[in-house]
Amino acid sequence: MKAVVLGGTGACGKAILASLLSSSAVERVVTIGRRPVTVPDQAQLEQSGKLVQVTTEMAAIAQAEDAFKGADVVMCAFGTTRKQAGSAEAFKKIDQEYVVAAAATAKRAGVPHFMYISSHGASASSWFLYLQSKGQTENGIIAQKFDKVSILRPGLLDRGDESRFVEKFAMVFTSGCKTTTIGEAMRELAAAYLTDKASSGDAVQYVDDATIRRLGKQ
Ligand SMILES: NC(=O)c1ccc[n+]([C@@H]2O[C@H](COP(=O)([O-])OP(=O)(O)OC[C@H]3O[C@@H](n4cnc5c(N)ncnc54)[C@H](OP(=O)(O)O)[C@@H]3O)[C@@H](O)[C@H]2O)c1
Repeated sequence: MKAVVLGGTGACGKAILASLLSSSAVERVVTIGRRPVTVPDQAQLEQSGKLVQVTTEMAAIAQAEDAFKGADVVMCAFGTTRKQAGSAEAFKKIDQEYVVAAAATAKRAGVPHFMYISSHGASASSWFLYLQSKGQTENGIIAQKFDKVSILRPGLLDRGDESRFVEKFAMVFTSGCKTTTIGEAMRELAAAYLTDKASSGDAVQYVDDATIRRLGKQ
Protein backbone atom coordinates (compact mmCIF):
# COMPACT_ATOMS: atom_id res chain seq x y z
CA MET A 1 0.00 0.00 0.00
CA LYS A 2 1.11 3.52 -0.79
CA ALA A 3 -0.54 6.15 1.41
CA VAL A 4 -0.64 9.91 1.78
CA VAL A 5 -1.33 11.27 5.27
CA LEU A 6 -2.74 14.76 5.85
CA GLY A 7 -2.63 16.13 9.39
CA GLY A 8 0.20 13.77 10.38
CA THR A 9 1.40 16.07 13.16
CA GLY A 10 -1.95 15.84 14.99
CA ALA A 11 -3.08 13.35 17.63
CA CYS A 12 -4.84 11.04 15.13
CA GLY A 13 -2.33 11.71 12.37
CA LYS A 14 0.59 10.52 14.50
CA ALA A 15 -1.29 7.32 15.33
CA ILE A 16 -2.12 6.74 11.65
CA LEU A 17 1.53 7.19 10.73
CA ALA A 18 2.67 4.79 13.46
CA SER A 19 0.20 2.19 12.25
CA LEU A 20 1.27 2.55 8.60
CA LEU A 21 5.01 2.68 9.23
CA SER A 22 4.93 -0.46 11.39
CA SER A 23 3.21 -2.50 8.67
CA SER A 24 5.22 -4.56 6.20
CA ALA A 25 2.28 -4.27 3.78
CA VAL A 26 2.88 -0.53 3.48
CA GLU A 27 5.48 0.40 0.88
CA ARG A 28 5.45 4.17 1.10
CA VAL A 29 3.94 6.91 3.25
CA VAL A 30 3.93 10.54 2.11
CA THR A 31 3.05 13.17 4.70
CA ILE A 32 1.80 16.53 3.46
CA GLY A 33 1.57 19.38 5.95
CA ARG A 34 2.88 22.76 6.97
CA ARG A 35 5.63 21.11 9.03
CA PRO A 36 7.26 17.68 9.00
CA VAL A 37 6.36 14.97 11.50
CA THR A 38 8.94 13.51 13.87
CA VAL A 39 8.77 9.71 14.03
CA PRO A 40 11.03 7.01 15.51
CA ASP A 41 13.71 5.74 13.08
CA GLN A 42 12.99 8.73 10.86
CA ALA A 43 16.36 8.94 9.10
CA GLN A 44 16.29 5.24 8.27
CA LEU A 45 12.69 5.39 7.02
CA GLU A 46 13.43 8.42 4.85
CA GLN A 47 16.60 6.82 3.50
CA SER A 48 14.71 3.64 2.58
CA GLY A 49 12.08 5.74 0.77
CA LYS A 50 9.28 4.39 2.96
CA LEU A 51 8.68 7.85 4.44
CA VAL A 52 8.57 11.01 2.32
CA GLN A 53 7.69 14.35 3.94
CA VAL A 54 6.34 17.20 1.84
CA THR A 55 6.04 20.61 3.48
CA THR A 56 3.52 23.11 2.12
CA GLU A 57 0.99 25.62 3.36
CA MET A 58 -2.49 24.12 2.97
CA ALA A 59 -3.60 27.21 1.04
CA ALA A 60 -1.19 26.05 -1.69
CA ILE A 61 -2.17 22.36 -1.61
CA ALA A 62 -3.23 22.40 -5.28
CA GLN A 63 0.41 22.95 -6.20
CA ALA A 64 1.41 19.79 -4.34
CA GLU A 65 -0.39 17.50 -6.80
CA ASP A 66 2.76 15.50 -7.56
CA ALA A 67 3.00 14.42 -3.91
CA PHE A 68 -0.32 12.55 -4.29
CA LYS A 69 0.61 10.75 -7.52
CA GLY A 70 0.85 6.96 -7.30
CA ALA A 71 -0.91 6.76 -3.91
CA ASP A 72 -3.56 4.10 -3.31
CA VAL A 73 -5.17 6.07 -0.53
CA VAL A 74 -5.24 9.45 1.21
CA MET A 75 -5.88 9.41 4.97
CA CYS A 76 -7.01 12.82 6.14
CA ALA A 77 -6.74 13.61 9.86
CA PHE A 78 -6.66 17.32 9.21
CA GLY A 79 -8.83 19.68 11.22
CA THR A 80 -9.07 22.39 13.83
CA THR A 81 -11.40 23.85 16.43
CA ARG A 82 -13.18 27.19 16.37
CA LYS A 83 -11.10 28.27 19.36
CA GLN A 84 -7.81 27.41 17.65
CA ALA A 85 -8.89 28.99 14.36
CA GLY A 86 -10.01 32.22 16.06
CA SER A 87 -13.34 32.74 14.27
CA ALA A 88 -16.13 30.77 12.61
CA GLU A 89 -14.91 31.96 9.22
CA ALA A 90 -11.32 30.91 9.84
CA PHE A 91 -12.55 27.59 11.25
CA LYS A 92 -14.50 26.80 8.08
CA LYS A 93 -11.58 27.82 5.88
CA ILE A 94 -9.24 25.39 7.64
CA ASP A 95 -11.61 22.58 8.62
CA GLN A 96 -13.56 22.56 5.36
CA GLU A 97 -12.01 24.50 2.45
CA TYR A 98 -8.50 23.12 2.92
CA VAL A 99 -9.75 19.53 3.21
CA VAL A 100 -11.94 19.79 0.10
CA ALA A 101 -9.07 21.45 -1.79
CA ALA A 102 -6.81 18.55 -0.75
CA ALA A 103 -9.45 16.06 -1.91
CA ALA A 104 -9.76 17.83 -5.29
CA THR A 105 -5.97 17.74 -5.67
CA ALA A 106 -5.86 14.04 -4.79
CA LYS A 107 -8.58 13.33 -7.32
CA ARG A 108 -6.71 15.21 -10.06
CA ALA A 109 -3.61 13.18 -9.17
CA GLY A 110 -5.59 9.97 -9.74
CA VAL A 111 -5.86 8.65 -6.17
CA PRO A 112 -8.74 6.14 -6.01
CA HIS A 113 -9.53 6.15 -2.25
CA PHE A 114 -9.98 9.09 0.15
CA MET A 115 -10.47 8.56 3.90
CA TYR A 116 -11.56 11.35 6.23
CA ILE A 117 -11.96 11.61 9.99
CA SER A 118 -15.27 13.41 10.41
CA SER A 119 -17.38 13.25 13.55
CA HIS A 120 -20.39 11.52 15.03
CA GLY A 121 -23.41 13.71 14.27
CA ALA A 122 -21.87 15.39 11.21
CA SER A 123 -24.56 16.94 9.03
CA ALA A 124 -24.46 19.72 6.48
CA SER A 125 -27.78 21.00 7.87
CA SER A 126 -26.73 20.98 11.53
CA TRP A 127 -27.21 24.16 13.56
CA PHE A 128 -23.86 23.55 15.22
CA LEU A 129 -20.90 25.05 13.37
CA TYR A 130 -18.59 22.07 14.02
CA LEU A 131 -21.07 19.38 12.91
CA GLN A 132 -22.21 21.49 9.95
CA SER A 133 -18.62 22.01 8.80
CA LYS A 134 -17.88 18.30 9.06
CA GLY A 135 -21.07 17.46 7.10
CA GLN A 136 -20.28 20.00 4.39
CA THR A 137 -16.70 18.75 4.21
CA GLU A 138 -17.96 15.18 3.78
CA ASN A 139 -20.18 16.36 0.91
CA GLY A 140 -17.29 18.27 -0.67
CA ILE A 141 -15.14 15.13 -0.62
CA ILE A 142 -17.94 12.91 -1.97
CA ALA A 143 -18.51 15.41 -4.84
CA GLN A 144 -14.99 14.65 -6.13
CA LYS A 145 -16.23 11.16 -7.15
CA PHE A 146 -13.42 8.98 -5.88
CA ASP A 147 -13.76 5.25 -6.53
CA LYS A 148 -14.07 4.92 -2.76
CA VAL A 149 -14.63 7.40 0.08
CA SER A 150 -14.41 6.24 3.69
CA ILE A 151 -15.86 8.67 6.21
CA LEU A 152 -15.04 7.84 9.80
CA ARG A 153 -17.44 9.28 12.35
CA PRO A 154 -15.94 8.74 15.80
CA GLY A 155 -17.63 10.10 18.90
CA LEU A 156 -15.41 11.47 21.62
CA LEU A 157 -11.71 10.94 20.92
CA ASP A 158 -9.26 9.94 23.64
CA ARG A 159 -6.32 12.07 22.53
CA GLY A 160 -4.11 10.89 25.40
CA ASP A 161 -1.73 13.57 26.69
CA GLU A 162 -3.05 15.95 24.03
CA SER A 163 -6.63 15.82 25.38
CA ARG A 164 -8.28 19.21 25.82
CA PHE A 165 -10.00 20.16 29.11
CA VAL A 166 -13.50 19.56 27.72
CA GLU A 167 -12.43 16.14 26.36
CA LYS A 168 -10.95 15.14 29.73
CA PHE A 169 -14.18 16.22 31.43
CA ALA A 170 -16.34 14.22 28.98
CA MET A 171 -14.17 11.15 29.52
CA VAL A 172 -15.28 11.07 33.18
CA PHE A 173 -18.67 9.91 31.83
CA THR A 174 -17.71 7.88 28.75
CA SER A 175 -14.65 6.25 27.24
CA GLY A 176 -13.17 7.97 24.21
CA CYS A 177 -12.06 6.25 21.04
CA LYS A 178 -8.25 6.04 21.25
CA THR A 179 -6.22 7.64 18.50
CA THR A 180 -4.33 4.35 18.12
CA THR A 181 -7.70 2.71 17.42
CA ILE A 182 -8.34 5.27 14.67
CA GLY A 183 -4.91 4.55 13.16
CA GLU A 184 -5.42 0.79 13.14
CA ALA A 185 -8.97 1.06 11.80
CA MET A 186 -7.92 3.30 8.92
CA ARG A 187 -5.11 0.96 7.91
CA GLU A 188 -7.48 -2.04 8.11
CA LEU A 189 -10.12 -0.31 5.96
CA ALA A 190 -7.59 0.82 3.35
CA ALA A 191 -6.06 -2.67 3.16
CA ALA A 192 -9.48 -4.30 2.86
CA TYR A 193 -10.38 -2.05 -0.08
CA LEU A 194 -7.07 -2.69 -1.82
CA THR A 195 -7.42 -6.45 -1.38
CA ASP A 196 -11.00 -6.79 -2.55
CA LYS A 197 -12.43 -3.75 -4.34
CA ALA A 198 -15.25 -5.73 -5.92
CA SER A 199 -16.94 -6.68 -2.66
CA SER A 200 -16.21 -3.50 -0.75
CA GLY A 201 -19.79 -2.25 -0.90
CA ASP A 202 -20.96 1.28 -1.70
CA ALA A 203 -18.57 3.88 -3.12
CA VAL A 204 -19.23 5.99 -0.03
CA GLN A 205 -18.68 4.16 3.23
CA TYR A 206 -19.68 5.68 6.60
CA VAL A 207 -17.87 4.13 9.55
CA ASP A 208 -19.43 4.73 12.96
CA ASP A 209 -17.74 4.80 16.36
CA ALA A 210 -18.58 1.17 17.24
CA THR A 211 -17.20 -0.11 13.91
CA ILE A 212 -14.03 1.97 14.30
CA ARG A 213 -13.49 0.44 17.75
CA ARG A 214 -14.12 -3.07 16.42
CA LEU A 215 -11.71 -2.63 13.52
CA GLY A 216 -9.13 -0.94 15.75
CA LYS A 217 -9.54 -3.72 18.35
CA GLN A 218 -10.35 -1.34 21.24
N1 LIG B 1 -11.60 15.71 19.60
C1 LIG B 1 -12.61 14.91 19.38
O1 LIG B 1 -13.24 14.35 20.30
C2 LIG B 1 -13.00 14.57 17.95
C3 LIG B 1 -14.07 13.73 17.75
C4 LIG B 1 -14.41 13.39 16.46
C5 LIG B 1 -13.68 13.87 15.38
N2 LIG B 1 -12.64 14.74 15.58
C6 LIG B 1 -11.91 15.22 14.38
O2 LIG B 1 -10.81 14.36 14.13
C7 LIG B 1 -9.85 15.04 13.33
C8 LIG B 1 -8.45 14.79 13.89
O3 LIG B 1 -8.42 15.26 15.23
P1 LIG B 1 -7.05 15.43 16.02
O4 LIG B 1 -7.43 15.54 17.44
O5 LIG B 1 -6.06 14.40 15.60
O6 LIG B 1 -6.58 16.88 15.50
P2 LIG B 1 -5.27 17.69 15.93
O7 LIG B 1 -4.45 16.95 16.91
O8 LIG B 1 -5.74 19.06 16.33
O9 LIG B 1 -4.45 17.77 14.55
C9 LIG B 1 -4.90 18.56 13.49
C10 LIG B 1 -3.99 18.48 12.30
O10 LIG B 1 -4.40 19.47 11.34
C11 LIG B 1 -3.30 20.33 11.05
N3 LIG B 1 -3.73 21.73 10.91
C12 LIG B 1 -4.65 22.39 11.64
N4 LIG B 1 -4.75 23.67 11.21
C13 LIG B 1 -3.87 23.81 10.19
C14 LIG B 1 -3.52 24.87 9.30
N5 LIG B 1 -4.10 26.08 9.39
N6 LIG B 1 -2.58 24.65 8.36
C15 LIG B 1 -1.98 23.46 8.25
N7 LIG B 1 -2.26 22.39 9.05
C16 LIG B 1 -3.19 22.57 10.00
C17 LIG B 1 -2.38 20.25 12.25
O11 LIG B 1 -1.08 20.66 11.84
P3 LIG B 1 -0.11 21.41 12.87
O12 LIG B 1 0.42 20.35 13.79
O13 LIG B 1 0.95 22.00 11.99
O14 LIG B 1 -0.95 22.43 13.60
C18 LIG B 1 -2.52 18.77 12.62
O15 LIG B 1 -1.68 18.00 11.80
C19 LIG B 1 -10.26 16.52 13.35
O16 LIG B 1 -10.86 16.84 12.12
C20 LIG B 1 -11.29 16.59 14.47
O17 LIG B 1 -12.23 17.62 14.25
C21 LIG B 1 -12.28 15.07 16.84
